[in-house]
Amino acid sequence: MIDPESFSEEKVKEIREEVRGSKVIAAVSGGVDSTTAAVLAYRALGDRLIPVMLDTGFLRRGEAERVKYLLKDLLPLQVVKAEDHFVSRVRGLRDAEEKRKSFREEFYSQISTLASAHSAEYLVQGTIAADWVETQGGIKTQHNVLSQIGIDTKRIYGFKLLEPLADLYKDEVRQLATYLGLPKEITNRQPFPGPGLLVRVPGEISREKVELCRSATEIVERELEGLSQYFAVVFEAEGTVEKSLSKEVGREVKVYGIRATGVKGDVRQYGKVVSVNGSLDYTELRRIVSKLSSHDITHVLYRLRQGEGKYAVVIRAVVTEDFMTADFAEIVESKLYKIAEDVSRLNGVAEVLYDVTSKPPATIEFE
Ligand code: XMP
Repeated sequence: MIDPESFSEEKVKEIREEVRGSKVIAAVSGGVDSTTAAVLAYRALGDRLIPVMLDTGFLRRGEAERVKYLLKDLLPLQVVKAEDHFVSRVRGLRDAEEKRKSFREEFYSQISTLASAHSAEYLVQGTIAADWVETQGGIKTQHNVLSQIGIDTKRIYGFKLLEPLADLYKDEVRQLATYLGLPKEITNRQPFPGPGLLVRVPGEISREKVELCRSATEIVERELEGLSQYFAVVFEAEGTVEKSLSKEVGREVKVYGIRATGVKGDVRQYGKVVSVNGSLDYTELRRIVSKLSSHDITHVLYRLRQGEGKYAVVIRAVVTEDFMTADFAEIVESKLYKIAEDVSRLNGVAEVLYDVTSKPPATIEFE
C-alpha cells in the first residue's frame, strides 16, 4: 500500500516539472483510475488542465451527465459528443481485437483534435499497472496502453503522455482517490472498460443492439450490488443444438454464431459460446463448464428464459480480488429469475442467460 499524502505530493511535483508552462488534456471516463489521475493533475496544474469526457456512444445510460454532476466540485469537466465518429469507425467489424483497435484509434484521434484545438502538449490518463501487465502478457489490447507497447504518441497524435498511476494497483488507486476527496460513488464504482458497451456487444454492432445492451445493463445494475462487476451482454440468438456435446453433458447444448474471449494459461484465446438448459444447480454447472472448456468453448451460459425474438441477453456477474482471475457469482435463483423477467420485457429479447464461466477459462468481458 502507498502513503497517499507523500505519493500525491511527489506526483504533483513531477507533473509540474515535466509539463512546465504547457497545457494538458485529461481523458476522464468517470472510472476511479482516470478520475484520480485527472484530479491529481488538476492539483498540479489548475486551469492549465483541460479535463474532457468523450461520449463515444458506448457509455451507459445517463453516464456522461452523472459523472459531470459527481465531479462538479472537483473538476471543470467538459463532455464532448463524438458518438457518430465512433459508431461509423467500428461499423461492419466482427473481430473483437479489430473492434478494440479501431475504437482506440478513433479515441486517440479525437483526443488529438482536442489537444491541438487547445494547444495542449500532453495527455494525462489513468493507466494502472494491471493494464499494461495484461497487454504485454498478450491477454488483450487494453484500451489505454500505448507507450508500453511502443506507440509513439507524440509522433502519431501530437501529444506526450503523463501516466501518474502507472505503477499502482487498483486498491492503491482507491486509497489515493479517497485521500484526494473523490466521491464514494466514483471510488467504489465497478470498473467499466474504456471501449464501454462495445466489448459487450459481440459480433457486428448496430444501434439497436447497443441500445438493448444499455437498457439491460440498467436493469442488472439496479438489481445487483456488492459484487465486483455485473453487467449485460447482447448478441444474436441464432444457434444450433450440438448433439455430441449435449450427450456428453446430459443437457441440451446450443452453440451460438459468435465467438468470445477466454484465457488459457497466460494467453488470450477466442472460443465458442454455448448455452445449456436444465436445473440451476451451480455445482453441476461447474462440472459442465469444466467438461465443455476442453472443446474450444470460452463461455458457458445457463438458459433462464427462452422465447421468440432476435437477441440473446446475458447477465454477467463476477467476484474477484484483482480482476486477473474471477469467479462467477452464485446469485440466488429467485433474484436471477426476477432480473431475467425484467430483461425479457425489453424489445427483441429471445433468450435471457446467466454466464456460469469463471476466469479462466472465460474473461470477465466477452471481447
Ligand atoms: P477481462 O475481460 O480481460 O477484464 O477479464 C478484466 C478487467 O478489465 C476491464 N477491461 C478493460 N478496462 N479498457 C479498460 O479500461 C479495456 O479495454 C478493458 N477491457 C477489459 C474489465 O471490465 C475487467 O474489469
